[in-house]
Amino acid sequence: MKLLILNGPNLNLLGKREPTIYGNTSFEEYFEQLQAALPEAEMEYRQSNHEGTLVDIIHEVGFSYDGIVLNAGAYTHTSVAIADAIAGVETPVIEVHISNVHAREAFRHNSFMAKNCVGTIAGLGLKGYELAARYFIEK
Ligand code: DQA
Repeated sequence: MKLLILNGPNLNLLGKREPTIYGNTSFEEYFEQLQAALPEAEMEYRQSNHEGTLVDIIHEVGFSYDGIVLNAGAYTHTSVAIADAIAGVETPVIEVHISNVHAREAFRHNSFMAKNCVGTIAGLGLKGYELAARYFIEK
């Protein structure tokens, strides 16, 4: 079971960035807890602030990994290219958001990628990544 956890722009600042919305934990810290909680999966974590790099990474793993847990950050609401990359690969993708995007500004309510994903988890904090990974492990 090979899973990629892929974070998009500004998520490298987790723990420092708007902590009232995104919390005080860095993703590196959380990823250690995640690996300890799910030893049955081989998990890799990658992050990029660049749209094309995210497309490249999806292509790179999208024909061999068993699942991608993707938080595309703000590109969720703007990127046709990432939505097309998800549609173009075989590996299933679950969309995750730390915050409840539907309770925030209207521009965060639309996701270009949601229709190409298995499902979406939003508003459950960092726990959303674990729940998404568990779906791939248990399905
Ligand atoms: C986010 C929500 C997005 O609207 C925002 O641009 C982010 C983070 C989340 O995890 O809640 O960068 O994807």
